[in-house]
Parts: sequence; C-alpha cells; structure tokens
Amino acid sequence: MRAIVLEELNQKLAVKEVETPTIADNEVLVKIHAAAFNHRDLWIQKGQYAGIRFPIILGSDGSGTVAKIGANVNADWLNKEVVINPSLNWGNNPRVQAKDYVILGTPNDGTFAEYVKVDARLLHIKPTHLTFEQAAAFPLAGLTAYRATMKRAAAKASENVLITGIGGGVALFCVQFAVAAGCNVYVTSGDDEKIAKAITLGAKGGVNYKNQNWDKELKAMCGGFEAMVDSSGGDTFAKLVDLAKTAGRIAMYGATLGAFNSGVPAKIFWKQLDILGSTMGNDDEFAEMLAFINDHKIIPIVDEVFELAQAQTAIEKMSQGKQFGKIVLKVAF
Ligand SMILES: NC(=O)c1ccc[n+]([C@@H]2O[C@H](COP(=O)([O-])OP(=O)(O)OC[C@H]3O[C@@H](n4cnc5c(N)ncnc54)[C@H](OP(=O)(O)O)[C@@H]3O)[C@@H](O)[C@H]2O)c1
Repeated sequence: MRAIVLEELNQKLAVKEVETPTIADNEVLVKIHAAAFNHRDLWIQKGQYAGIRFPIILGSDGSGTVAKIGANVNADWLNKEVVINPSLNWGNNPRVQAKDYVILGTPNDGTFAEYVKVDARLLHIKPTHLTFEQAAAFPLAGLTAYRATMKRAAAKASENVLITGIGGGVALFCVQFAVAAGCNVYVTSGDDEKIAKAITLGAKGGVNYKNQNWDKELKAMCGGFEAMVDSSGGDTFAKLVDLAKTAGRIAMYGATLGAFNSGVPAKIFWKQLDILGSTMGNDDEFAEMLAFINDHKIIPIVDEVFELAQAQTAIEKMSQGKQFGKIVLKVAF
C-alpha cells in the first residue's frame, strides 16, 4: 500500500510502498479516504515529541471504510463508513489517562496510508452530514477541544468564553463548540483576517495578540471571562489571570510560547480561579463529542485538501501557521 513513512528525523514527507498491515482478532483494517494533520505530526518530524520510533507512518486523524474485520469483531462493522478515535489505551480512570496511553500515529502506525489497523473499540460511525474530508478533520483536535472547553473549563450558555490563537486546529473547534453551546465567545489571533472569519462563525469579537495591550482591549469589549481555553502558555498566562472574572476557569492544552515568565500568584488565589490542565479525552468524551457534532450539525473548518503525494507542502503550510482550520490529505476513494 502507499503510505507516508518517516524513516529519520527531519526527513521530508514522501509516499513510499509498504506492506498492508495484518490484523489481530480484535482489530479491523480501515481503508482510509481522508486524513488530517495536527501540530503533533510536525513535532514528530522535528524530533520534538516523546516515544518516537522509526520507521513510522504518521497521522492521528482518519475517516474511511472498514475493509476487513478480525475474528472477534462484530460483522456489522464491515463496509461501514467510520471515523477513528485516536486515543489508544486511555484506561479506566475518566479523569486521567493511563501510563501506557498513546495517540495513533506514534508509536503505532497512523492514518497517512491507504490502510490502517486499529482496535475495533476505536471505531465510530461517520456523521452523515459530513464528507470524508470534513470527518477526518475532527477526531484529535475535536476531542482535545471538547474536553478542554466543555468538560474542564465547563463553558456554559451566556458565559463569556475566551479562545486564544484561533488559527489553531484545536482552537477553532473550541470556538465552534462554545458558540453551539450558546456562550459569548471572544477570540485572539495574530491575524486580523482570522478574527473576522471567527466572527462569521459566531464569535462576538476578538483582538490581535500582536497588539501590546490586547488584554485591555478585550476587557473593554466584554468586562472579563468566566471561562478561557489556551494553548499558548508563556506570557499569555498572566494576561488570562487578569482577564478572568472571580471564580473563573482557565483550561490549558498546549504551550506554544513555552514557560510562564510572569504573573501574580496572589491574583489566582484571591480570585478563586481554577487552572485546569487538559490533554486529548477519554472514550466517553469522544462519543459525547460525536453526539454534539451530530446534534448541532457542526461542520469542521477545512483549510485545504492536499493529495497524499503533497504531504510535505501541506506540513510546511501548517509550520508557517498560514492555515485557518484543518489541513487534510485525500488518500484514496
Ligand atoms: N494536550 C493535547 O491533547 C493537545 C492536542 C492538540 C494540540 N496540542 C498543542 O496545542 C498547540 C496547538 O495545536 P494545534 O494542532 O491546534 O496547532 P496549529 O493548528 O498549528 O495552531 C497553532 C496556533 O497557535 C497560535 N499561536 C501562536 N502564537 C500565539 C500567541 N502568542 N498567542 C496565542 N496563540 C498563538 C496560532 O494562532 P493564530 O494563527 O490565530 O495566530 C497558531 O495557529 C500545540 O502546541 C500542540 O502541541 C495539545
């Protein structure tokens, strides 16, 4: 089969011919129609991710058709159109993942291939209102956004909710979920055009984080926030603490700007804030997110669809932060 195989660090993404996987009794073989990039794929290519092994087929997100099932798998799955939950081995504790938790696409071979093998437990029926390209766009980013926004930050209707860096794949789902839940959503971005696009998706307003006083601009717009979701860290954190209303919640799922260099701890305890770490999500949260997408007929924003052979061009676009929404690979139909 054709696949994007990374054999060493910093290697350009190229199509190679490899063996089609053989499945165990509890597994299925999914014929991948579309796959999507996450920032994680770039971290792996650059060697900035834990548990890297070579050779590896990249890709955590995929939609496709079940082509073959193991002996212990319900026969109803055969030929079904599916999406794959990329959270492997979350374990029994819904609050935190198990020690052997991994994400599809490292160390297990992923979805940038004509076929991927996965445990049948990870299969979910593809929403009928979505194309394969749209369905491939939501598993990893949607799950991360759903847990961070709806469960950890627990954003509720009529609350002011801030989502930072909305050019990010996860952040855009945070916006879509919070808007669908009836929140007053505000955003930040380094690009005014992306803010304007977020407003067309239902956000009430936004500011450019390249302006030195972006936090004061936001405060003037809405007075402050009950809930915030951030993946930048760094100097953003102190500003979020200032922007939080008393008893506010700040959920964090990334650290694009690195360590916190500033901030006044007293503001955190005096305002009774909750600082909430969040990573991916458990199996129930994946099912809940899928139901939410179906109920609200949410359509993931796809920035651009590339052919499998254009994977390097696609990942370069993501590395430059030029995208608005997910970058998708068309694999095979
Ligand atoms: N914990 C988890 O489970 C999990 C899951 C997925 C991702 N992540 C992490 O979350 C981060 C985003 O991932 P992604 O896949 O969504 O990446 P992505 O699509 O490449 O987006 C990265 C975004 O970061 C934003 N950004 C850059 N500088 C910023 C700043 N100064 N303030 C606020 N935002 C800034 C940019 O937004 P603008 O374009 O709007 O300026 C950019 O689009 C990465 O660090 C990733 O590793 C964690």
